[in-house]
Order: sequence, then C-alpha cells, then structure tokens
Amino acid sequence: MAKTRYVCDACGHDTAKWFGQCPACGEWNSMGQIAIGDERSSSPLRRGAGAARPTPLAEVDRHEKPRLVSGIGEFDRVLGGGLVAGSAVLIAGDPGVGKSTLMLQAAHELTAPSGGRVLYVTGEESARQIRLRADRLGLAGDAILVLAETVIDGLDQIIAQHSPQCVMVDSVQAVRLSSVEGTPGSIAQVRAVSDFLIGLAKTMDLPFIVAGHVTKEGAAAGPRALEHLVDVVLYFEGERAQALRVLRAQKNRFGSVDEIGLFEMGDGGLREVADPTGALLGDRSRPQSGCAVAAALSGTRPLLVQIEALVAPASYGTGRRVSVGIDNARVALVLAVLERRAGVTLGNADVFVGVSGGLKLTEPGSDLALALAVASSTNDQPLMQDAVAIGEIGLSGEVRAVSGMRRRVQEAVRLGFETVIGPLGEAAGLAPRAREAYTLEEAMDAAL
Ligand code: TYD
Ligand code: MG
Repeated sequence: MAKTRYVCDACGHDTAKWFGQCPACGEWNSMGQIAIGDERSSSPLRRGAGAARPTPLAEVDRHEKPRLVSGIGEFDRVLGGGLVAGSAVLIAGDPGVGKSTLMLQAAHELTAPSGGRVLYVTGEESARQIRLRADRLGLAGDAILVLAETVIDGLDQIIAQHSPQCVMVDSVQAVRLSSVEGTPGSIAQVRAVSDFLIGLAKTMDLPFIVAGHVTKEGAAAGPRALEHLVDVVLYFEGERAQALRVLRAQKNRFGSVDEIGLFEMGDGGLREVADPTGALLGDRSRPQSGCAVAAALSGTRPLLVQIEALVAPASYGTGRRVSVGIDNARVALVLAVLERRAGVTLGNADVFVGVSGGLKLTEPGSDLALALAVASSTNDQPLMQDAVAIGEIGLSGEVRAVSGMRRRVQEAVRLGFETVIGPLGEAAGLAPRAREAYTLEEAMDAAL
C-alpha cells in the first residue's frame, strides 16, 4: 500500500498529516501531497528467498560499462571522463545561462559519432523551439528524438520503445507526474519527478541529464533540494552580459569536484575555450593598481586569473567588504593578516574584491595575489609588470607553498609571465625571475 506524505512547497518540511499552515515555516496553503511507495511490501528482501541475496565482495562484478563520451572536451572532463550508465546528472543554473544550449549540443555530439539516439524531453519549450535552436546551432539532429511533454508518467515505455543511449529532461521544474498533486516546479513534484527519473536511470541503466533552474532565493524546489539525490551536480554559471560560461562540478560520484569547464557563448552556441587564460586575463598592456595575477589550480589544470581589488574611503560608518568570486571568510582572513602583519592600514575603508571573467576561486593558492591586489590598491601603486603570485597566507603572515607549485609556475612562464612571487622552493628554477617570498612582507617588497 502506498503511503501519503505532505511536503511544504516553501521550506520542504515533510509531515504525515496535512496542515493548512506549514508547522515549520508558517506559510499558508503550501502543503502538497506526495505518494511514497510502501517499502516493506515492495522490498525484494520481503519477497522471500532468492529475490535478494548478499554477494561476497570478491564476487561482485567490478567491470563497469564504458562511459559515454560526448566529445565536448570541457563537458566530459567536468563529468570525470564522460557519462556513467545508470547515473543522473543535474545541470543547474540561472534561467538563460545556456543549459538548454549545452544539452542540445551535447545531444548532437553524443549521437554524431556513434549513431545512437538521444531522447530530449522538453517540458519548457515546444519541439519547434528546440528545432529552431538546433538550426541556429547548425545541428542536423536526425538522431535526437524530441518529446515535448510535461506529464512524464509513461517515460519508461517511450525509452523502452526507442532505446536511446542517453535521456535528457529540460527541465526538472517543467515536468510532472500525474499521480502527484501540485503544479510543476512545486517541491512535491520536483522531488517525485527526480525520484522517478533517478529510478529510471538505474533500472534502465542509462545516463540521464536533467536541467534545473536556480531560483532567486535558492528556493527549496530548486536544484538545492536535489543535490543529495542525484549522482552528479554541475553548476553552469556566467554573467549574461559576458560570453564566458563556467561549468563546475558541485558533486560528482564519478570524478573530481575541482574540475571546471570553460565555454564562450556566441552566435553559434557554446564554444569550448581552448586557452582559458587568454580569456580570463584580458588586456594587461597598461599597468593598473589593484590588479594581481594568481596561478590557481582548477582540478589538475593551472589557471591564471586576475584578481582585482578596490580600496576606497568608506562612504559612511564601518567599511564594507564586498567579494565576488572569492569566499568571504578567505577575504576577511587575508585582510586581517594584511593589517596586523604587513602594516597595510585598511581601517574603515570599503574593500571590494573580484575575479576576472566571473570565475569563482575555491583554493587558497590565490591568497597571495589577493593580498597583493589589496595592498596595491591601498597604496595606489601598480604591481610589477608580468608578475604572478602564488601562495597561501597563514595567520602569522607567513606565505605557504600550495599543491601543484611546479605546474602553476610552468603555466605562468608558458604564458609569458617572467616574474613569479611566492614560496617557490625547488620550483624557483623554472621561472626566469623567481622572487622567493616566505612572508607577506617579503612578497610585498618583491612585488611593489
Ligand atoms: P538557453 O540555452 O535557452 O538557456 P537556459 O536553458 O539555461 O535557460 O540559452 C539562453 C541564452 O543564450 C539566450 O539568451 C540566447 C543565448 N544564445 C546565444 O547567445 N547563442 C546561441 O547560439 C544560442 C542557442 C543561445
Ligand atoms: Mg532552457
């Protein structure tokens, strides 16, 4: 017998009884019904001997199906080397960032070499709109089967009939199951739909790619609520006004979460960015105060990025600290160390920091460049031309080496940066001008 539970659309609170007002968040008329199968009677463990049997670990089949490689290098790398059969991948991002474009291009690439088919379920756009996009992208799309449908109950039959090698659903908020109450996009539907799709991926042993919109408040019915359900969560990010798009793994059961993929959105759709650093550094012909170049490590790949800082007198009261692309706690730490250990007086000043290209930095190797950018802006003095700073900053003002030092230095040198500043150790021999610095003060002396 199926059980019924009630889930609040606003906060995701889950109860056995219906309430007019959610007991957790106080929202009115937000409880939607979801049906939950009775795990006890349907469980193979209950169906008697033979239905389910534990296997000695040594006898478990360790061979897995080869991954499905899309041929879009940046996409495959972020996935950890292609799509895994039976897995569910969520591509989350703001509306308009390019999720549908990425999926359609991936669908095309998947079908092109192998002759296999991709089933593209669209609840958001009509089949005609998908066709128009494909035309715009110059994709023939013979092997892409489009299903424009919002009620997806019978999807398993469609899949069985057409045997695609991959299923895409655009988007999880635009489709629903008729057995579940609530409109598409409500938390009850989003959860039920995700469970259904993940179940299909497993039983049919196919990779599923599902798009999900990030809602403004990061609402419960958005991708956040699904992150723990799916196998892989990729965030697709970028400023609408700019061409650069970043595909980042937030969770990946089958690969590293440090990898990012870079694309440029243009008239012909998404193009892989082959040499990311060129795209990220922009014009550096004129030295400017407040700019420093970091050699960050993104997964296994070194990535040179420009960090920008602006230190300005506070307009009123205590200074504001605004950071785009760098974790607030890291910025606070670096600013505190600058003040206390390197004599840079920030006082009540407003401090703004950002990363070029709308990138997010998540590892500490960029600390030193951040500190130098802030120091440079404070003194209104540009840093030495063609210099890259690498290192993590500790509370006592020391600069520590980070992983992949050699690779970072090599990449900087490859791109024409002559001076490398930081606790270089044996990597010092790789740079034409190595400026060894083991404290923040030494680094500032070398760079300013
Ligand atoms: P889309 O893939 O529809 O975004 P999402 O599915 O994430 O909502 O892409 C939206 C934007 O991309 C749209 O504003 C137009 C732009 N775009 C291009 O610039 N070039 C192209 O070739 C395509 C297909 C879209
Ligand atoms: Mg879309």
